[in-house]
Amino acid sequence: MLYRIMRSFLFLLNPEKAHDVSIKQLKMTHGTILDLFYRQKVQQRPVQVMGLTFPNSLGLAAGLDKDGECIDAFGAMGFGHIEVGTITPVAQPGNESPRLFRVLESEGIINRMGFNNHGVDNLIDNVKQSNFKGVIGINIGKNFSTPVEEGKNDYLLCMDKVYAHAGYIAVNISSPNTPGLRSLQYGEALDDLLSTLKTRQAELHKKHDKYVPIALKVAPDLTDEEIESIAQSVLKYKFDGLIATNTTLDRSMIKGMSHASEAGGLSGRPLQSKSTLVIKKFASHLKGEVPIIGVGGIDSVIAAKEKIDAGASLVQIYSGFIYQGPPLVKQIVNNI
Ligand SMILES: Cc1cc2nc3c(=O)[nH]c(=O)nc-3n(C[C@H](O)[C@H](O)[C@H](O)COP(=O)(O)O)c2cc1C
Repeated sequence: MLYRIMRSFLFLLNPEKAHDVSIKQLKMTHGTILDLFYRQKVQQRPVQVMGLTFPNSLGLAAGLDKDGECIDAFGAMGFGHIEVGTITPVAQPGNESPRLFRVLESEGIINRMGFNNHGVDNLIDNVKQSNFKGVIGINIGKNFSTPVEEGKNDYLLCMDKVYAHAGYIAVNISSPNTPGLRSLQYGEALDDLLSTLKTRQAELHKKHDKYVPIALKVAPDLTDEEIESIAQSVLKYKFDGLIATNTTLDRSMIKGMSHASEAGGLSGRPLQSKSTLVIKKFASHLKGEVPIIGVGGIDSVIAAKEKIDAGASLVQIYSGFIYQGPPLVKQIVNNI
């Protein structure tokens, strides 16, 4: 009820302004009496995934708190893990505005943000200041100005810097808004990236005396052959997890709806069944050897359960949270 009222104000603003206002408010109010508007008790339902103990199975998906400015506020809402980022080595503004659109008819979102963020060093400062007791995932990417052929170096640079501060590291090669990025999902480019990152992980493990799992985040727009090939690479290089899925370029589910022709990635309810199917297909290849974090269109307990039934060990939300707010967190945590 409370979030519905707040949402009616927030939705009067353009989507990016609403996002910025919300982040600012969360930052300002956390730790004050005003956080009672979103602080809530959820049940403890610990799960072990990637060798880590998560307080519950629900996380905040990457992209909402790109710079890790509100980790404790999101923690107070009951999330068991929070994936911050995507972060790049150097701060960058992202694409030109407008770049974020609500597809109200279907509770979808289209974004072409383009990894706007304040850079990896700023993120680490924010992570260090957090008192969150759950797991912090740090999602890493490459700068817009780095050629795709040199993208590997950006991932390595971010990995070196975040390793000591991350619960897990998510490697994002599936954003549709950084030209060429998705080409890293295929063939030799993928094998080269995965083997390089695993080698660096082993070195950092030794250096820090701490094993930080790394997970690969993939797109939903993959053929069956591509899914099989990515799964084989993930198994071959012993990646620790797979996050499925990012946003889709497909618009068939929102034909005729508002903003349907905007460029960018579509998320929210229209993505739900597509991402579940991708999870199911990955699960059939990974056979439980590599855990899957399921994300894409989760807007209810039932939708979260469908992801788990499809083979996910953890789930995440982004768009559903924009439309339903903290009550959705409590419902899902307490019922899956
Ligand atoms: C505005 C917006 C920004 C996003 N930014 C990122 C990002 O920086 N990195 C990333 O891996 N995913 C990003 N995502 C994708 C989400 O993490 C998630 O994979 C996708 O939205 C599907 O989940 P949902 O349907 O619950 O939103 C973004 C999504 C939205 C809507």
